[in-house]
Amino acid sequence: MKYIVAVIQPDRLEEVLDRLEEKDIHLVTVTNVLGRGRQKGISEIYRSHKEVGSLLRKVKLEIAVNEEYVKPTIDAITEGARTGRIGDGKIFVLDLKEVMRIRTGEAGAVAIG
Ligand SMILES: Nc1ncnc2c1ncn2[C@@H]1O[C@H](COP(=O)(O)OP(=O)(O)OP(=O)(O)O)[C@@H](O)[C@H]1O
Ligand SMILES: [Mg+2]
Repeated sequence: MKYIVAVIQPDRLEEVLDRLEEKDIHLVTVTNVLGRGRQKGISEIYRSHKEVGSLLRKVKLEIAVNEEYVKPTIDAITEGARTGRIGDGKIFVLDLKEVMRIRTGEAGAVAIG
């Protein structure tokens, strides 16, 4: 199992969610965050309102998936978020050790989706 974390431009969220749904990926956590990449927020101001400390508004997606969904998830996020301009975002792929569905006590691959 993998835990996929992506930081994208807020105005790409709808497109990314559409692409994920096309690939049958529906379970997701979305958070409004502040961040900065390697331009330290400087050359990207035209795309986003600048907050304190060169931070820009971004959206973070977190998706836990079984192995067969890793590539479809990455593809969907990339296709939905890419414009070719700086600040399109980044995807982090983490190993996921365990998932528990609290209501049933199910664990692992069964509990993930
Ligand atoms: N190494 C990192 N650690 C933590 N968060 C990061 C890291 N790199 C990027 N991010 C997050 O991702 C957001 C988007 O990054 P961004 O797309 O600007 O990456 P970049 O490496 O600067 O690439 P680009 O040159 O395309 O802008 C950042 O605002 C930040 O929130
Ligand atoms: Mg950047």
